[in-house]
Amino acid sequence: MSMGRGEAMTRPQSAQQGIIPGSIPLFAGHPAPDLLPAHGIGAVLAGWDERPPLRAFNYGDEQGDPLLLDFLLARLNGIETLGIKRDNLMIVPGSTGGVAMITRLLTQAGDTVLVDAPSYRDALHIFRDQGLRLRAIPIDAEGPKLDALEAELERLAAEPARPRFYYVVPNFQNPSGITISEDRRRAVIERSKAHGFIIVEDDVYSDLRFAGKAPPSFYALAGGENVLRLGSFSKTLAPGLRLGWLVGSARQIADFGASGILRMGGGANPFCAAVVAEYCRSGAWSAHVDWLRGQYQARRDLALAALENAMPDGVSWTHPQGGYFIWLRLPDMVDVDTLERRAQAEQVYFANGRGFFAEPAMGAQHLRLSYSYLSHDKLRQGIGSLGRLIAGLSG
Ligand SMILES: Cc1ncc(COP(=O)(O)O)c(C=O)c1O
Repeated sequence: MSMGRGEAMTRPQSAQQGIIPGSIPLFAGHPAPDLLPAHGIGAVLAGWDERPPLRAFNYGDEQGDPLLLDFLLARLNGIETLGIKRDNLMIVPGSTGGVAMITRLLTQAGDTVLVDAPSYRDALHIFRDQGLRLRAIPIDAEGPKLDALEAELERLAAEPARPRFYYVVPNFQNPSGITISEDRRRAVIERSKAHGFIIVEDDVYSDLRFAGKAPPSFYALAGGENVLRLGSFSKTLAPGLRLGWLVGSARQIADFGASGILRMGGGANPFCAAVVAEYCRSGAWSAHVDWLRGQYQARRDLALAALENAMPDGVSWTHPQGGYFIWLRLPDMVDVDTLERRAQAEQVYFANGRGFFAEPAMGAQHLRLSYSYLSHDKLRQGIGSLGRLIAGLSG
């Protein structure tokens, strides 16, 4: 993970790149080792001893592995009535790879994009790498604040400038854990039509819903127009596969497929895609996701109970209905950098709120906790330490 331009240099290099042995990495937004289906994936590979699928070893179709595309098509059309066809779908090298491709092909340095405040840190990195101007829309428990969105769009129209796209994480957002309500989704789509921007919907957590019903996707609500929708196998299978998918109009998908890198090398990660296609077609993925929901829900419950126990007055936090993250607001007198230094001295690492804002200063009272990686004991211990340190700093 590289530092994006403008991000506060808040975490030591070693913790950036991995997990320090013996530490409590509350920042780690990936699956715990015991939640990875290594044996199931290993079994697919063992079966290849006898009959290796040769397509896995060569350059592939620009849109991606055909069997994986067929599997995803049936699955996505089964979850929502989307009417997605083969030419609306492609495989990408992880959702991040999809965001990078969209950014590279749809924007130029100096263009403006809309992001939430806060938003997913690594997407902000990609936008900064491309030299984009970020305009941030504050969110509340329901999603983007519409008056702030309206005001930003008016400011841009006066410049005059038009955002190229609005990047959103619709379900169990990274970092806040919130889900954008159906009303807000409809309102954002309305504004996108009026102001001529695309919505990039980075939906990597929707399969990890613990309770309640998901609002329809932006893609479904917009009838598939001017929405690019990303998904990923990272959160429900394994990040190391570097595999995700992109849904868009036939025209957009054809344009992406015709980009230089895909013309030369074919679609994303043919080897991994062939392994995953076989794993998914056997029914193993669906069973694994069902099991994972229970595992993450238990970790979420434990984290919320530990927060209730450990946090002093003046600290508040979100109660996500799925996904990986809880977002904390610190009392006004507690600065997140000071807390971070004290926590690190006790080998407790969290994600500093500053990294999730286009304007890092806005994160000075925030931090993100992840419950996806740690054992129950470590989660309890890490949250307990934070509570004690915050109480000390609150005076
Ligand atoms: C919103 C969001 N998008 C994308 C990713 C990464 O997905 P991938 O591994 O498919 O690139 C993450 C992981 O933290 C995320 O939170």
